[in-house]
Amino acid sequence: MTVPLLNASGCLDALTAPDVARSLDAFVTKTITPLPRDGNPPVRIAETRAGMLNAIGLQGPGVDALVSDVLPRLAALGLHVWVSVGGFSARDFAGICERLDGRDDVEVLELNLSCPNVEEAPESSAEIVAACREATRKPLYAKLSPATWDIAESARAVVAAGADGLSLVNTIRGLALDPATLRPRLARALGGYSGPALKPIALACVWACAAAVEVPIVGMGGVVTGIDALELVAAGASVVSLGTVLFSDPGAPGRIRGELAAEAAARGFRDPADARAVARSNREKAL
Ligand SMILES: Cc1cc2nc3c(=O)[nH]c(=O)nc-3n(C[C@H](O)[C@H](O)[C@H](O)COP(=O)(O)O)c2cc1C
Repeated sequence: MTVPLLNASGCLDALTAPDVARSLDAFVTKTITPLPRDGNPPVRIAETRAGMLNAIGLQGPGVDALVSDVLPRLAALGLHVWVSVGGFSARDFAGICERLDGRDDVEVLELNLSCPNVEEAPESSAEIVAACREATRKPLYAKLSPATWDIAESARAVVAAGADGLSLVNTIRGLALDPATLRPRLARALGGYSGPALKPIALACVWACAAAVEVPIVGMGGVVTGIDALELVAAGASVVSLGTVLFSDPGAPGRIRGELAAEAAARGFRDPADARAVARSNREKAL
């Protein structure tokens, strides 16, 4: 048993950086939509003091090209593949899940229920998960937004609807202004904020959801070092994903894996995953 490390969706292109992808335990695709999408016009990325703002807008080739072109190339790289599924209605999500259901080259479907750059689907997250549950027997991970007051309630609802796990968290909506012009730096003004400032928010979400539901949690948000990863495990995550850090440090998976093992050992854990056992007792003491 150990703590698997994944990339956060949208933060790594395995086809252009196969060695980085191979240094992870599984590769998560960028969110795929039913049809090809150009995404938002530039400027779509802005660096900020403690992280990064993006408004890519779910750019991607669409599910047909994923199936005919991308998945065979990922399989040829020998990667364990999680597909991040997106859309604008429960029918969009379920259609992609159904399409990928029988494929051996896809291990897990992560439902992006939380992209801050696109309009909300008319259905609730639980309704989307329920529709996907009908469409596939593959493991379904619900990726939730941190921008909700009671994320534990959302977690209970999606698990009751059939989610096998949670991915926590997506970016949170932010705005960066150009100090000279005081105009938004992104063409779409608002974007999703990620990076180090997200870590306490991610920890709070993982902590609350681990207390609410019994499914595995993929923790992400601002992980830069091994201790960041270990803290997510101690809050209740059993898998950790690396996002923004991959843009500045493609060697992050190997570095963080080593740091994680060392930080866990320094605290008396035989394996970093054992830190998860303290999550429950930490929570009980905090009550
Ligand atoms: C440039 C960029 C693109 C992203 N694209 C997606 C996406 O397509 N689907 C998704 O679920 N999350 C997407 N995310 C969110 C990340 O998967 C992750 O949830 C978030 O960045 C928090 O982790 P981090 O602070 O380690 O980056 C994106 C993030 C960034 C920075």
